[in-house]
This record gives sequence, C-alpha cells and structure tokens, in this order.
Amino acid sequence: MRSLSRHAPRGRELLLQLFTVLCWKSSWGSMSSGLVENYEAAMVLSAAGDALGYNNHKWEFCRSGEKIHKELAKLGGVENIDVKDWIVSDDTVMHIATAEALVEAGKDTDPAKLYPLLAKKYKESMDDMDGRAPGGTCMSNAMSLDPECPDGWKIPFEKHGGGCGAAMRAMCIGLRFPNPEQLDELIRVSIESGRMTHHHPTGYLGSLASALFTSYAINRKPPHEWGKALLDVLPKARAYVVESGRNVKENLDSWSFFETRWTSYLTLRDILDGKSQAKFPEKYGVEERDTFYSFLSYSGWGGSSGHDAPMIAYDAILGSGDCWTELSNRGFFHGGDSDSTAAIGASWWGAMYGFKDVPKANYKKLEYRERLEKLGRDLYQLTLSQGSQPNSK
Ligand code: AR6
Ligand code: MG
Repeated sequence: MRSLSRHAPRGRELLLQLFTVLCWKSSWGSMSSGLVENYEAAMVLSAAGDALGYNNHKWEFCRSGEKIHKELAKLGGVENIDVKDWIVSDDTVMHIATAEALVEAGKDTDPAKLYPLLAKKYKESMDDMDGRAPGGTCMSNAMSLDPECPDGWKIPFEKHGGGCGAAMRAMCIGLRFPNPEQLDELIRVSIESGRMTHHHPTGYLGSLASALFTSYAINRKPPHEWGKALLDVLPKARAYVVESGRNVKENLDSWSFFETRWTSYLTLRDILDGKSQAKFPEKYGVEERDTFYSFLSYSGWGGSSGHDAPMIAYDAILGSGDCWTELSNRGFFHGGDSDSTAAIGASWWGAMYGFKDVPKANYKKLEYRERLEKLGRDLYQLTLSQGSQPNSK
C-alpha cells in the first residue's frame, strides 16, 4: 500500500505528460497547414517591430514616449510608415544569426554541433552592425567567441551580463522547439545560446522567456497563462544550470532577481494563478506606461535587461489582443529600449496571428524580409519533420 501511494504521483505525472503530448499532436496536426504563415510572421514582424521601434537610431534612445508618439502622429501613425528606409537594428541581425544556426544544424541539435555554429553566427553577425547600435555586452563577448575551439563558445560568468541582448534574439528557438516534449531542449538551447554573450541568469533567463513564450504563442496558449507557466519552468532551468556545472555558485547567487521581478509583475497584473485575466490600471496611456516600464527596469531604462524586455513585450501582448496598432503603441513606441521590446513582442504576435491586418507598408520593403521569410519556412519544415516523430532522437 505504502509503495503504491509512493508511486501514484509519478504515475499521474507520466499520464499527464502523455496527455499533454497527445493533445499537442492532435492540435498541431489540425493547425499545421496554415502555420507556416505564423512562422514567417514571427520572423518578419519581429524585424518590422525592431525597425519601427529603432527608427534609425532615433527612437531606441529617446527617453520620452510622449515625444515619440507626437512624431509618430506627424508621420500619420504606424499604418502609414513605410519601412523602406528604416533599417533593422542589432536585435534582428542577431536573431537571424540564431535562426541560421538552428537551420544549418538541421535535425541534429547536439551541443557539439549546434553550439559552435551559434558561436560562429554570433561572431560573424558583428560584421553587420554599422548603424545598428549593438549592445556593449553582445559586442565584446561575441567577438571573444572562438567557434573553432571545442569550448570556444563558453564565456566566464559576468556580473554585468544581465542586459537584454540574449532575450532579443531567442524567439526563433521557440519556433524550433514548440512541442512540449522538446521543453528540455528549448531550455538548454535558450540558456546556452544566451550565455554565449550574457553569462548571468537575468540575461539568459530573458532568452528562455523569449523562446518559451514563442512556443506558447505558436501553440495558441492563451497569453494570460504564459507568465505562471514561465515560473513553473524556472526550477527546470535552474536544475539544468546546476547540472551543466559552470560557475554554479555565481549563477545561483544571482538567480533570484529574475524570478522575484516576474513574480511581482504577475501579482500586480493579477495573473499569478495562470487563470485570471490581466488587470490594467484605468488610466494607462503613454505617460503612465513610460513610468511603469521604468519602474520595472534595472536602472531606469525600461526594457534594456533580460527580465524586463520580455516583461514589457508581454505587458503589450496582454493589453493588445489581436490589434497590431495597439501592440505597437504599447510595445514599440515608448521611452526606453523600444526596439528590443518591439522585436520580442512582435514575434509573439506574429506567431499567434500571422500577418493579420498588419499594414503592408510596415513589412513589405523591410530589410532582409526574404531572408527572414525563408528562415521562418525552414524552421517550420524542421519542426514539421520532427513533429511526426518527436522521439526519434
Ligand atoms: N541585471 C540587470 N540588468 C543589467 C545587469 C544585471 N546584472 N547588468 C547590466 N544590465 P548592454 P546588450 C543592464 O548595454 O545586452 C542594443 O542596443 C544595463 O543597465 O550591455 O549587449 C539592443 O537594441 C544596461 O542598460 O546591452 C539592446 O538595447 C542593459 O543591461 C541592447 O543593445 C543593457 O546592457 C542589448 O544588448
Ligand atoms: Mg537594437
């Protein structure tokens, strides 16, 4: 009797896992024909959001959302912006690097193959940074990677590695590993790709959040459930970091910041239970959002760290439903690190809604559009080929 009750929870857990996977396979099967557009949109709209939030260097570093919205109104609103001359920033160049490494690795995501490829792509991406304002941590650490060396993709722990540079380039990892059975891979790859430049939990957990929420978006998980699900995944991420054995003490000493900040945010929005709908203040306009984003931040610059870039993107997703214009108002056009929150939020939005009602001018003549579309298609094909045989590894 005693041994039965001891094994019952494990049995229930296995049954639950099996049920989740079966549900995933059946919903994936019924959705998959139209899903390729969502893959393309997750890549292309992320870059469109980046270009819009960046505005050729002008808006990323503007402290005032009010000023940005005034200039936006003069341009005729987001609907009238033709991105033809609006270049993408470092966020997109590095997102492309992640996606290209995943595609080139193909079905073989073994660390010995995938990690040197990611390191190579990140290093090479630095050759395409003219006018794109790359972050300091990304730049110095990507340049230090040595993809030819067996451990050349590893960098030491860094106290200041909590910037959003890892989070802004990880969305495609969720496109690559959307199956609940692939959660361990999603965790592993988002953390390791993140800490190739940002070896600090606040940095690489941002990468995990960006990837995880993309996988939720592509699976149509309702957004108000995502936050709690992230908190539920964190113990697994922590276990992976311990098991990987690199700078374990330093990593654990700095672990709590990300989790504490996310718990506070979810409590404030009343969605810590993963069931309730998000509650926003009655007055939550441009000015109030700027104040709130800055309050969430590490040092006053909303969206520039690994915890608050995905958080602000999430806040915008929760408050916008399927309206692209609203998403842009909340997630792209604010005082703070606007291109990174835009690149992340727009990717999730595209994964959920495809190109639905997005003004063509916002992405038709976008820099690297065809390259991004192709990456979306290639990631889709890879996922599809593995979705039919998820246990083949
Ligand atoms: N915890 C939280 N935030 C931190 C920490 C920490 N331990 N350490 C540093 N920061 P940066 P990136 C904050 O400049 O991550 C492009 O412009 C720090 O206060 O090294 O390499 C993109 O569009 C700083 O403000 O950038 C992004 O804006 C912030 O992390 C950016 O570069 C960013 O660190 C991302 O690249
Ligand atoms: Mg940028």
